[in-house]
Amino acid sequence: VLTLPRVNAQPSILATDLAGVTLVNPVMLAAGTCGTLDEMGEVIDLSRIGGVVTKSITARPREGNAFPRVIDARAGMLNAIGLANVGVKHFVEHMGPRAGQVPTRVIGSIAGFSIDDYVTVAALMDDEKGIEAVELNVSCPNVNGGTEFGADPISLAELVGAVRPVLASTRLLVKLSPIAVGLPGMTAVARAAVQGAGVPGGPNGRPGADGLCVANTIPAMAIDVVSRTPRLANTTGGLSGPAIHAVAVKLVYDVYRGAARAEGVPVVGVGGVMRWEDAAEFILAGASAVAMGTALFADPRSPLRVVRGLERWVRRQGAGHVSELVGQVRV
Ligand SMILES: Cc1cc2nc3c(=O)[nH]c(=O)nc-3n(C[C@H](O)[C@H](O)[C@H](O)COP(=O)(O)O)c2cc1C
Repeated sequence: VLTLPRVNAQPSILATDLAGVTLVNPVMLAAGTCGTLDEMGEVIDLSRIGGVVTKSITARPREGNAFPRVIDARAGMLNAIGLANVGVKHFVEHMGPRAGQVPTRVIGSIAGFSIDDYVTVAALMDDEKGIEAVELNVSCPNVNGGTEFGADPISLAELVGAVRPVLASTRLLVKLSPIAVGLPGMTAVARAAVQGAGVPGGPNGRPGADGLCVANTIPAMAIDVVSRTPRLANTTGGLSGPAIHAVAVKLVYDVYRGAARAEGVPVVGVGGVMRWEDAAEFILAGASAVAMGTALFADPRSPLRVVRGLERWVRRQGAGHVSELVGQVRV
């Protein structure tokens, strides 16, 4: 039996257990697209959505990349924000105490350039009562090796093994990078994330991640053909929105069947959810929850419509609860 957080009363048909954290429904707001913490609360009633993921927080404040760093793409957006954020010191002093008052679940996203960076931020977030889970954004270049932690199972397992022990009460999610696209690459990194260094810990007694988020933006580039210069000041960036949705559905499908289902950890599907049908697709592919990013730029209220559409869909499918449909694509 799921206990609902004391927020808005909503039909329990959509209540979602995300690695031991109960969400009122499976629709969350994706990292970096909804402000640092609860800024979206000015536009929508946050108690009606499953959770918010914070902007990725790093050990030190970062200004991010030069402008332009967000441009439109034909079916989505290209961004190269460069992890602009207030840094963990400012975050815990000014926003940490507020996290407990946000009327939905708060997941703290962490980015870093070394294992120490991630461990430092994770330990400080673990102390914040209002942060139910952290999500490791492993898509930043690993300074030593020059590749992303998320692209290499060995460095990812090492990273997860180092962060796990500093999280006493907070769930650990790993947001996979689509750089490791396709089997067996994605499955290998997913397994590395859930197995970590093999030493059980945290509130669920798991050796690695309690859940996986699939996935981040896909590396991409756009060129102005008149000036013959890249359209992003950073030259390249990450593609998001409808353009990546079908790719993300396959990644969720692969990760669910190749690693998450057997390990018993939930998957959060991210990439191009604009309408309820996109969220339903993720659920059928194996996601227990979804997060929306680019859609918020087009219409910040769209998550509420996705929640309503999902509720009707679950009923029309004849299911008593959304969880009955997770991974139920007929293949
Ligand atoms: C402007 C912008 C900023 C983002 N910042 C972050 C971030 O700080 N950390 C992170 O893990 N993902 C970040 N993302 C990726 C999103 O969380 C999400 O994974 C991606 O955009 C795909 O979902 P969507 O198609 O619904 O936008 C960002 C995306 C955008 C568009």
